[in-house]
Amino acid sequence: MAPSIQPKGSKIMKDYQNDYPDHTLSPDYEHGDEAPSNTSNNPTFFEVIEARASRRGFLMGGLAAAITGLVGVGVSTRGALAASTSPLLGFNAVPVTEDDMIHVPEGYKTQILARWGDAISGDMPTYHGSNTGEEQGHQVGMHHDGQHFFPIEGESPYEGSSTDGLYVLNHEYIEPRFLHADKYAGQELNSGAVVYHDGKRDDDEVLKEINAHGVAVFRVQKQESGEWAIIADPHNRRITGNTPMEIGGPVRGSAHVVTKYSPDGTMTRGTLNNCAHGVTPWNTYLTAVENWAGYFSNTDQEDQKPNLPREHARYGVSTNPNARYGWHHAMSGADEYIRFDASTKGASAAEDYRNEPNCFGWVVEIDPFNPESTPVKRTHLGRFAHEGVVFAKAETGKPIVAYAGDDARFEYIYKFVSRDVYSPGETDGSILDEGTLYVAKFNADGSGEWLALAPGRNGLTRDNGFADLADILVNTRLAADTAGATKMDRPEWGAVDPATGEVYFTLTNNTRRTEAQVDPANPRAGNQFGHIIRWREGRDDPAATSFNWDLFVIAGDVGTSRSLSGESLNEDNIFACPDGLWFDADSRLWIQTDIGESAQNKGDLAPVGNNAMLAADPRTGEIRRFLTGPMGQEITGVCTTPDQRTMFVGVQHPGATTTPEDFASGNLASHWPDGGDSIPRSALVVITREDGGVIGA
Ligand code: FEO
Ligand code: CA
Ligand code: CA
Ligand code: CA
Repeated sequence: MAPSIQPKGSKIMKDYQNDYPDHTLSPDYEHGDEAPSNTSNNPTFFEVIEARASRRGFLMGGLAAAITGLVGVGVSTRGALAASTSPLLGFNAVPVTEDDMIHVPEGYKTQILARWGDAISGDMPTYHGSNTGEEQGHQVGMHHDGQHFFPIEGESPYEGSSTDGLYVLNHEYIEPRFLHADKYAGQELNSGAVVYHDGKRDDDEVLKEINAHGVAVFRVQKQESGEWAIIADPHNRRITGNTPMEIGGPVRGSAHVVTKYSPDGTMTRGTLNNCAHGVTPWNTYLTAVENWAGYFSNTDQEDQKPNLPREHARYGVSTNPNARYGWHHAMSGADEYIRFDASTKGASAAEDYRNEPNCFGWVVEIDPFNPESTPVKRTHLGRFAHEGVVFAKAETGKPIVAYAGDDARFEYIYKFVSRDVYSPGETDGSILDEGTLYVAKFNADGSGEWLALAPGRNGLTRDNGFADLADILVNTRLAADTAGATKMDRPEWGAVDPATGEVYFTLTNNTRRTEAQVDPANPRAGNQFGHIIRWREGRDDPAATSFNWDLFVIAGDVGTSRSLSGESLNEDNIFACPDGLWFDADSRLWIQTDIGESAQNKGDLAPVGNNAMLAADPRTGEIRRFLTGPMGQEITGVCTTPDQRTMFVGVQHPGATTTPEDFASGNLASHWPDGGDSIPRSALVVITREDGGVIGA
């Protein structure tokens, strides 16, 4: 069943697609994965290197060079690599675990907050298995991901109260069998399955699913008891897959986003699959939109074969008539549901939803302090499977710079540089509408280049099929292919070291990279454990167009991993599939893991146990396991209060490893956090120290 090995990268991708025309049947499929769609002919580094090294020699040398610093000569924080004990890591490692609990170091305590279904607005509907779709629209959504605590003063995202604030939380996707547990009980369903009746979906189930997606904004306060609580407040609101939104930036008003709902291409509805996030220097929240393409179906055909426009095909819009959840099959045929069918139906784009997928794939800006504000899609940040957005430190009089990863196999890392300069108190989100989007090229010698994705630059000409800036942005992936970007092993979160400005990105895994596709920045074939890359911008200027990079850590088990010291990870820090990544104010780097549910606790991944969170010292390279989570989940999303004495950590999709047979018999893999025979619920874990100290120190 294994795909045949071919010498060149693009052919291998195509062969894989031939072997598994239905990508959900491939051996490494994880629920929600979209079909790989980068069939560009961009060379892998191997082709560059081939001329001067034998394949095996290079692989060995590449791995060693990347780790010991021969690659990435300009990255300077690599300090003493002796086995010192970092002053940043003042806790004892938590061991690997495989139970249904949260584990934190000795001297720390935890509290559960903001479970899926907890009420935040309206009549504050109580959570139970039969909540309606409307009730879900007043409750915390499912599958917590990116998040941030905004101090209640509303002046700075990082300064102000450490006991009172607005919490903003992403909800990535849903597990329908738990969402509709009362109705779906007893049926053999996998974690993504929905139930049809004569080919149609129940309207209220569809509404509940859409309302469980998106973003929640709710006020949180520390109580006299020391526990945190959600407080009813006028700021509290849900933003869902149905919320009206403005289209901002260069794509606004273009033909690409004309729909029946908005014939002038200025508005759309909803945000979906909200994975990681961004926090702007002007105190707003950005929600990223990751695996959105599979929610839409396009059944257009020519000669009995799928015939999708490039702005659908390159993103993996589904050709399956049901797509991911079949929302367009809602019984009522209401307009807000049928839009998920992007097939051509009307006489023009203003009469159907052929362009609805073009309204997705954009980062959305939300002002948590203005509950009446309409969220805005910031199209100059590009259209792809946005994992999240991370800002370089904003400096008065300098452009705003933000980084973003496209989390799919063989996709790219991007950077946006604003045209206008930052002015505290004056700058707002419109600064993200004018500037330049770049894509990263990692050279084999440890240098790198930012390739501009703008009209006339890097081959993005009319002759090459790019009419204007809006066309480039709607087709960001194709533009990056044309520019010659480096295909990465699934870029997830980024983080910027507040002390040095160095940028770190997790590359979570890529089991489909073959030996022929290995390059110094993605140095392992069949990469099932992932790694973390980092770079320093030229002249320490975030807006620079060149940089120097190296690898911070290659994840894995004892013996298959490499830390910055050049040695293997050990029992205190083995981990796999880095995903969430965040620097606290002390430059402590928090690393969160997301081993897919099909691989958790099995085979080569078994030794690292349940998904976890670790802390690292970026200077010494030391890493230590801080937290392990319950069964079937991923740990994702982390922040602290400004005083760093309360930490919030997200636990997503507990129990996702429950098999269809076990769901039918009620034998769930997790009952976290409520225990007993309860349905598992995503939730936040609030972490404090018994002595009230700084988390991690
Ligand atoms: Fe939603 Fe790429 O993690
Ligand atoms: Ca993620
Ligand atoms: Ca995930
Ligand atoms: Ca992930």
